[in-house]
Amino acid sequence: MGHKIYAYLDERIRISSLMGFLLNEPMPGGSRWAYIPGSMVFFVLILQFITGMMLAFYYGGTPDHAWDSVNYIDHLTYNGVGVGRLIRGIHYWGSSIMVIAVGIHLLQVFLWGAYKRPREIMWLVGVVLLGLTMTASFSGYLLPWDERAYWGTIVGTNMIGLVPFVGEAIKDAIRGGVGLGALTLSHFFTLHTMILPTLFILFVMLHMVIFRRVGPAGPFSGSPEKLEATKDTFYPRQVLMDAFGMLGIFIFILALAILHPPGLESVANPSNAAYNPTPAWYFDWIFELLKLIRPEIVGVVGLPVLIAVVLIFLPFIDKKPVRSPFRRPFAVLSTLFVLTAMLVLSLMAENGYKKLVDVDRAAMLRGQTVFNTAGCMGCHTLFGKGGKIGPDLSEEGLVGHSVHWLTVQFVNSKAHFPDSIMPDFTYLTPQQQHDLAMYISSLGRMNWPDPTKTP
Ligand code: HEC
Repeated sequence: MGHKIYAYLDERIRISSLMGFLLNEPMPGGSRWAYIPGSMVFFVLILQFITGMMLAFYYGGTPDHAWDSVNYIDHLTYNGVGVGRLIRGIHYWGSSIMVIAVGIHLLQVFLWGAYKRPREIMWLVGVVLLGLTMTASFSGYLLPWDERAYWGTIVGTNMIGLVPFVGEAIKDAIRGGVGLGALTLSHFFTLHTMILPTLFILFVMLHMVIFRRVGPAGPFSGSPEKLEATKDTFYPRQVLMDAFGMLGIFIFILALAILHPPGLESVANPSNAAYNPTPAWYFDWIFELLKLIRPEIVGVVGLPVLIAVVLIFLPFIDKKPVRSPFRRPFAVLSTLFVLTAMLVLSLMAENGYKKLVDVDRAAMLRGQTVFNTAGCMGCHTLFGKGGKIGPDLSEEGLVGHSVHWLTVQFVNSKAHFPDSIMPDFTYLTPQQQHDLAMYISSLGRMNWPDPTKTP
């Protein structure tokens, strides 16, 4: 039966020569584990396509529905299994892993000298794919429309606004207005689900077509005779190694999705100016670096331009044919320098971020004292203790009230609840009101130290 189908297809679509072309690609120097990063990136991209389509089935791309639909996805179960959250988890972690895998792939091509003649164009296509990956992770960030998404995108688009002359216009065009709204969400959704996937398909195909035209670069050392002698074809050994790599990365992403499902903060609240957005951890180093460069615009505009220029012109400037990293000390040292700088900056960001929280923490702790002395616990429960007359405040920070709203609540509860029995705490100074609001808005929020414990 099988061979009949094969013969049928072979006669009509020449399947055997196609398979031969795909699988018998010669690998100078033989197949090896060192070649798997590229196919791992490809696999994660396919995974993002599939899970992204699944999410799009349930996603509502308007400010009224986006958050609710994501929340719905998070609670979607099939036979008691939280499949919705699992699929979102895979997509969420897939994006982080893809950024990292692309980074590793790029680093390897750089160290192996595989971008050198005749692979300059293939490198350039790879740089475009890197840009697409970054744009995909930036545009996907907004879609859940929670506080983190909203404020993260405010910061990101504000940076674009710093570009001289055209920045403001580009920023407004991306946002579809002065602030973030329905148009912004449509823009990001279209970019994320239509424009980027199309470009991805085009450029990945181009990347692979060129790859098949010029062939794999092969190991960086060894005489042509030796490489010829140890030659191998893509199938079966390299296919198997690639498949193992893909399986490994899939299990890794799956484990992350199960053990650390992505969170969903409270729905985006444009008046919650107290919100402190933080970038994804793998971008920490960029933000830390940007903080060090003054004036701001030099970093925000100069840094991406510098990175782009270096990546684009690298194969045309570095034209020496020598590929081995052992004979290219400058390449190796500059890689080490960049990696160390990234690590140090990330650690600095970690400390800086903690310090930032400490600043808030000071206000928060003063607010805690106000809370404990003003008798709020007579009516409100906090982490299981206190009165039942008013609502439990243990997760009040997740409700997303602004500092202003909270301040009004303390001094004039009737403005919010006409028949309120909550007393007006007008004797509190503005500073005390603010501190109290900082404390209340920290309750139940992730990333904040446990507010019930004093340091
Ligand atoms: C006499 C009881 C009472 C006391 C004391 C009291 N509250 Fe309230 N509080 C309430 C009630 C009841 C509500 C619910 C709204 C209403 O119907 O008035 C409320 C509502 C709130 C809310 C809004 C909850 C929400 O999201 O809807 C906050 C925040 C709050 N109180 C904070 C405080 C703080 C801080 C203090 C201490 C300075 C305090 N309350 C003292 C009874 C009290």
